[in-house]
Amino acid sequence: MLVILKRDNEGVNEQAAQLIAGSVKKKPSLTLGLATGSTMVGLYQHLVRLHKSGSLDFSRVVTFNLDEYLGLSATHPQSFHHFMHEHFFRHVNVLARNIHIPDGSIRGDYDAYCASYEQAIRAAGGIDLQLLGIGRNGHIGFNEPTSSLASRTRLKVLSRETLDDNSKFFAPGEESPRCAVTMGIGTILEARKVLLLATGASKAAAVAKSIEGPITSGVSASALQLHPDVTFLLDELAAAQLTQRDYYHRVLEMTALLTPDRLS
Ligand code: GLP
Repeated sequence: MLVILKRDNEGVNEQAAQLIAGSVKKKPSLTLGLATGSTMVGLYQHLVRLHKSGSLDFSRVVTFNLDEYLGLSATHPQSFHHFMHEHFFRHVNVLARNIHIPDGSIRGDYDAYCASYEQAIRAAGGIDLQLLGIGRNGHIGFNEPTSSLASRTRLKVLSRETLDDNSKFFAPGEESPRCAVTMGIGTILEARKVLLLATGASKAAAVAKSIEGPITSGVSASALQLHPDVTFLLDELAAAQLTQRDYYHRVLEMTALLTPDRLS
């Protein structure tokens, strides 16, 4: 596990964009797992800038998003389809046929749909690099606390905390979705490489539990301790409750010296 500590939000976005751009350059046909949420907005701006300056080509990249609200059409302004289109896809050259986002408008036969999403990931050769944010309760994707650490893509009922966090984005009086379609923790752990971004004080407790706490279904992101190639990219506020910050700095220095490839 690599823990990279940056001063602020901007430092996190810049380094994340650099890591993703490096991965696309090494493998232009990269299968990239994408995430939504306010943490990702600045990162997508950086990636768009790199693309517009001519130094980043997504024409062969295949993408799979982590999750989508159940019951929202792709055009709903709070849908993750809409988020991805507005913040990323409409500005870059990922081919429409290479974009995969769980369909929140499905009704019935949920298991068959979720199995087909897993099948599409396998058919694409698996996810090379999975980008993650983290919820205040430690969720990744929409894998709420008590999710099975072996879970696959499925429907998930949203926790009270997540409903509260998300209700502010919906119009007054509008009922926000209670369920989502999300990749499972087992699905995420199969990605070859995982990059988790966290910024801001509200994430500090979840980050510390995920990195330094026990592996538990009570904190979904703690399952990442089982992954052989995971990088946490954190700003000072999100890292504030970690007890081994000095050690992470030293690991980073030695990584830069001995295996710089890991950082590009
Ligand atoms: C949602 C998404 C997660 C994301 C989380 C954090 O719940 N399903 O994938 O990590 O929000 O969002 P934010 O970055 O806005 O704090």
